[in-house]
Amino acid sequence: MLAIAILAAGKGTRMKSKLPKVLLKLAGVSLVERVISSCEKIKPDKSFLVIGHQGERVKESLTKFNSIEFVNQQPQNGTGHAVQQLIPFLKNFEGELIVLNGDVPLLQASTIKELLNQHRSSNADVTLLTSRTSNPKGYGRVFTNGSKEVHKIIEDKDCNEEQRENKLTNSGIYCFNWKKLKEVLSLLSNKNAQSELYITDAIGHLGKAIHFEVVDQREVSGVNDRIQMAKCESYLQERLRNYWMNEGVTFTDPKSCTISENCTFGNDVIIEPQTHLRGNCKIGDDCLLGPATLIEDSIIGNKVRAIQSVIRTCIIKNNVHIGPFAHIRPEVSIENNCKIGNFVELKKSSIREGTSISHLSYIGDADVGSNVNIGAGTITANYDGQNKNKSIIGDNTKTGANSVLVAPIQIGANVTIGAGSTITKDVPSQSLVVERSRQITREGWKII
Ligand code: UD1
Ligand code: CA
Repeated sequence: MLAIAILAAGKGTRMKSKLPKVLLKLAGVSLVERVISSCEKIKPDKSFLVIGHQGERVKESLTKFNSIEFVNQQPQNGTGHAVQQLIPFLKNFEGELIVLNGDVPLLQASTIKELLNQHRSSNADVTLLTSRTSNPKGYGRVFTNGSKEVHKIIEDKDCNEEQRENKLTNSGIYCFNWKKLKEVLSLLSNKNAQSELYITDAIGHLGKAIHFEVVDQREVSGVNDRIQMAKCESYLQERLRNYWMNEGVTFTDPKSCTISENCTFGNDVIIEPQTHLRGNCKIGDDCLLGPATLIEDSIIGNKVRAIQSVIRTCIIKNNVHIGPFAHIRPEVSIENNCKIGNFVELKKSSIREGTSISHLSYIGDADVGSNVNIGAGTITANYDGQNKNKSIIGDNTKTGANSVLVAPIQIGANVTIGAGSTITKDVPSQSLVVERSRQITREGWKII
């Protein structure tokens, strides 16, 4: 039998956040969610999350994980105290208990499996994952007999100068024989610099303790402050981009781009410099995104180009050209073969096939038909000071430059609107409509 417990009850004081630390996000996914996702791949018989500081908030954020049991730790007297809270939940349990820190978010499932394999083949009471790092500050130092056997872990704050020189650090990831651990949990003491019960002290009370070193020490980086968080983000971004490059995506300047965990890409997508994809984005084949484009929570079809634009919560079909400098706000859908040009803002509108909105327009709360040509500077005046009103524009209609459509309004199909018109009344299909004062020209007005 295998149980996993993730320790996530701490406050994370050094983050200086209103949120509990484990809810802070890397590439769009919270620290604790990352650790849980790695654990799920191991398929343990039991999974626990130890919560405490703002525990309800942590719990609420994890409703999609229904196999997790929450264990409350009050007050938070250290990692050893956190593990003690599992005793009533694992009364008759026999097997291994893997303990993970909720603030070590980049750990891969394959490494947890390796830890378990090493533990099972060594017959140890505990096996821990270590890493060798040039800057071990903040981490517990692991002291061995020169081989794989560990005799103690001393926390950074409890080390003397000489001990601090040791570069072999504790990752906070352990595989215990639960029965053996249970017997020694009551022996932990808080006589240390932080007056806490440390899970690391269990090592001294147990029998055989071994360690193995992780290959890439970045995988076990802890997130204790915003500087470590930025380092993890940067490593994670590299991992995500490398993954997608191996799947056929081109990044012309990878380091200048960021993507979230929940983005997917088709084949032959090119991502130009300083382009960022956030939230859930699904990008089709042959798209050219960027330079300098932000896309959030959107579904984008094939052959879409977007240059220097912001696109949020939209659905865009195939062969649509966007930008430069377009702002596509939430709840916009754009069908095939449309062009959305420079300085165009769209909001909560549907734009049907083959329509062009090429220059300097605001289209909000509108249904725009197919093959419509929205002239430069056309504005839907959708807000009357109290309500947002709808504009409907029929197929093949052409609005003149600088038209204002005062909503609610319905413009039929095949309509032509003269430039500079302010349209306040519905217009039937097939009409020409012009609304502006007549031009007065006085010849010879100035005598030179
Ligand atoms: C811990 C280890 C240290 C290791 C480092 C790796 C101990 C005593 N030290 O130190 O050897 O090098 O992780 O990243 O274990 N937590 C609780 N309840 C508590 C206290 C903490 O659930 O009462 C949780 C925290 O939410 C966090 C994790 O345990 O997710 C680790 O706690 P933290 O205070 O960050 O320990 P470190 O000082 O980083
Ligand atoms: Ca930590």
